[in-house]
Amino acid sequence: MLARVSPEVLRLAALFEEVLQALAEVPLAELVAGRALPEPSAALVEHLRAHRATLAGWLRSPGCAEALCVRLARWLWSRNQYVRLDRAALTAACDRAASELADELAGEPDAKDMSERLVRTGQELQARVAALVRAGGGKTDVVCSEYAVTLQRDALGLGDAPLTAPVLDVGCGRSAGFVRALRAEGVAATGLDREAPEDVALVGDWLTFPFGQDRWGTIVSHQAFSLHFVHQHLAQGPEAFAYARVYMAMLRSLKPGGRLVYVPGLPFVESMLPAKTYRCTKVPLPEAMLTEAVHALERAAGFELAYAAHVERLVRGSVITCSGGDPRRASPPADRGVGPADALAQGAAGGRRTGPGAADRGVGVHERVRPTLRPLRAALGQAAPGRAEHRGGAAPGRGAGDGRGR
Ligand SMILES: C[S@@+](CC[C@H](N)C(=O)[O-])C[C@H]1O[C@@H](n2cnc3c(N)ncnc32)[C@H](O)[C@@H]1O
Repeated sequence: MLARVSPEVLRLAALFEEVLQALAEVPLAELVAGRALPEPSAALVEHLRAHRATLAGWLRSPGCAEALCVRLARWLWSRNQYVRLDRAALTAACDRAASELADELAGEPDAKDMSERLVRTGQELQARVAALVRAGGGKTDVVCSEYAVTLQRDALGLGDAPLTAPVLDVGCGRSAGFVRALRAEGVAATGLDREAPEDVALVGDWLTFPFGQDRWGTIVSHQAFSLHFVHQHLAQGPEAFAYARVYMAMLRSLKPGGRLVYVPGLPFVESMLPAKTYRCTKVPLPEAMLTEAVHALERAAGFELAYAAHVERLVRGSVITCSGGDPRRASPPADRGVGPADALAQGAAGGRRTGPGAADRGVGVHERVRPTLRPLRAALGQAAPGRAEHRGGAAPGRGAGDGRGR
């Protein structure tokens, strides 16, 4: 959107980026608690005053509030990937802030007045956004990462076998690396992400995306949909049921014989899949990804998470075997960065039950997870227990359909 606007507006956007960058060092919790923002820079004050008419016009336009909202939402998700944002309220807050600045400019302010207005408007916007962030359950930092394609393949236990097309990568990330790699191999693939690159993926929310019926050969989701589902399940909020419904919609959108493949696993829902229709195979993460942090997280959660689930939609009347070959157990090379399991540990730590001593609270955790299952069954729309198989040497005790942990 900014590509078609004037150089003055582009410069204003760049100055706004500098503010966001300066805030990157400040813990989100402190910003939400109202920690004072940095003083407006002289460059920002002077730029606004120097281009009053042009910038006031832009600040009053709906495109400005929308662009500001998109940027703020991205910035907030980069600080806490789980925060749910009321986009209408965020846009309204941005609109109000932009209008206040436009009004100030109309009065031909001197540098001091302009600076004071920026401080007041900044404080008010901060307070409104903080309220939205608190309501959205994301007031501490829980970062979101993207991973190398080879690492995603390893973690998902996909081996070298070709994926059945068409492939949908749910939560493909800003760069959609996996989608691009598949396309380079000649596989028909597309991504879905709220921050997707539009050349190879669809921008959208997976909670409202129309996945369709009998449509996908393979759906993959690495550290994305299921990670958020685990988070919502542990938080025991109403959102967990929305995730359960969307999970079932994803399964229905598979072609017969198609697979839904994701990390982390969702034992609390996989154990409830109807065995006549779906087969779930659990593929443990490569040994090198099973760090102590991941084990501690599993103890805290009260169920196993550190595996890839391959859920196959069975062809009625046929014997279907899971494809994908043996997962490679090789250690990920050091240059691939932080392992997904570490991020899993960090990411799910946004849930309420982690934190100091959480790993020791195993029993209490079981008690708190159980009540969610009954309504979850209802949200899934069925009750028949399903079948989950282990592949690749799973540890004893982490067996089929064990939704309640060890
Ligand atoms: C941890 S990243 C993983 C990205 C990628 N799969 C990878 O492994 O590199 C999770 C992704 O999920 C996306 N995401 C989170 N919530 C979403 C939602 N409700 N709808 C669509 N995408 C979402 C984020 O934008 C982010 O790109």
